[in-house]
Amino acid sequence: MTQASVNGVPHGAPLDKDKRNWIVATCAVGGIGVAAVAVPLVSSLQPSEKAKATGAAVEVDISGIRPGEKLTIEWRGKPVWIVKRTPEQLAALPKNDALLADPKSQRKLPDWTPEYARNENRSIKPETLVVVGICPHLGCSPSEKFKTGAQPSLPDDWAGGFLCPCHGSTFDLAGRVYKNKPSPDNLEVPPHRYLSDTRLLIGEDKKA
Ligand code: FES
Repeated sequence: MTQASVNGVPHGAPLDKDKRNWIVATCAVGGIGVAAVAVPLVSSLQPSEKAKATGAAVEVDISGIRPGEKLTIEWRGKPVWIVKRTPEQLAALPKNDALLADPKSQRKLPDWTPEYARNENRSIKPETLVVVGICPHLGCSPSEKFKTGAQPSLPDDWAGGFLCPCHGSTFDLAGRVYKNKPSPDNLEVPPHRYLSDTRLLIGEDKKA
């Protein structure tokens, strides 16, 4: 794997246009000789059936995600988004607080937003957001709307984030839901931890 690709997807190519482009990184941890192999198409490589059945943690190489890009992996049959936010996107987050339903992520504690993500960025490292890409309202998968400004179905002063097309819930770039939207909660932050600067473990946040 080189710096010129995100787990096989060339830079310049959109990372997440649809589920066909999901990039699934293996694999279950806890076994002997843990191997992490990533391929560009979900149809080419899935975590093993056993790993899926047990909800095993998934190791992900995040070295190729550039600022402003999102990578989707699958964990427990759910999409998990890893977003590398730009300095400008991070700087804009605090300005959203007054417009949000739960800006400090105090709902459904302790699990919905683990303690290490209970901060303004909802993340361990400020630039890297990790959230489950499922709307807490009725389970649709929101669309990324990173472009700022006026556009269909969004306010004129849109600061970038996600739009759930089913019933119009909107989330900022920390996965926090805006007020008066159908979603009762922010996007879930799954348990996760860093194995190194470039490798994330999704599904487990404590060392065995
Ligand atoms: S499922 Fe997202 S707003 Fe209803």
